[in-house]
Amino acid sequence: MDVRKAVIPAAGLGTRFLPASKAIPKEMVPVVDKPAIQYVVEECVAAGITDVLVVTGRNKSAIEDHFDRAPELESNLEAKGKDDLLKEVRSLAELADVHFVRQREPLGLGHAVSVAHQHVGDEPFAVLLGDDLMVDDAALLRSMISASTATGRSVIALKRFPPAEISAYGCVRPVGPGRDDGLVEFDAIIEKPKPEEAPSDLGVMGRYVFTPGIFDALDRITPGAGGELQLTDAIGVLNDSEGVLGLPFSEGRYDAGNKLDYLRATVELALARDDLGPPFRAWLQSQTWD
Ligand code: G1P
Repeated sequence: MDVRKAVIPAAGLGTRFLPASKAIPKEMVPVVDKPAIQYVVEECVAAGITDVLVVTGRNKSAIEDHFDRAPELESNLEAKGKDDLLKEVRSLAELADVHFVRQREPLGLGHAVSVAHQHVGDEPFAVLLGDDLMVDDAALLRSMISASTATGRSVIALKRFPPAEISAYGCVRPVGPGRDDGLVEFDAIIEKPKPEEAPSDLGVMGRYVFTPGIFDALDRITPGAGGELQLTDAIGVLNDSEGVLGLPFSEGRYDAGNKLDYLRATVELALARDDLGPPFRAWLQSQTWD
């Protein structure tokens, strides 16, 4: 079955983005000239997904406004003949079929995904975490969708992390020498292990393609790391019943919640732009950096 829907959990408080995220949702913090969440929605669209459900919490209405029509702004741009901007603003509301649902209590990422059950129904779907920015023309997400369609199984993105960083992620214990198709089977998955308890250096990155079986798994978990309902624990339950696969990748991921990585993503995305890239590159090259 095709993957037609995506879920973007966006209910978190965004403490890693402070002070920028004090009065605006962290998902609306701009990277070059677009809010971070727009890149994530564009990634969905580039991978062929046009039905996007954003799971929001309190104080997130700016996200809804961003993907909605803006009549006053549009007529102002029209009156001033600013046609390019008008086109851009309008196209945002048509980018995808963006829906919203509220996670009423901050019970964890697993809970946020379970809130999407009614909208997603009984079909495979993708989950994209906004803190993980991918600069890869949706290549990873497309590969994950192909792998899930070919195997009929859920597929999670895996990336190697140094020992000092693995404790910030879900971590898998791979089994066997790996499959011919490059996918990885695992027999354990632990949310935020202590460095000495991490079963490998393969961390879970915020891209997932799930079979609807994840919803049954989410119903069966109890609060885990940090007292929250963890998506990672539900993946472990699903792995026992259906066999989840990992897709390792290495390039293109930036942690938007990490200020240094955020700066790198900004430079990378600006350089990739047709309009800004050439003059920005020339300026970077003309500078003498101490
Ligand atoms: C979440 C998940 C974690 C995953 C990470 C990827 O953690 O719980 O398993 O490895 O995203 O970015 P968070 O960053 O929300 O703490």
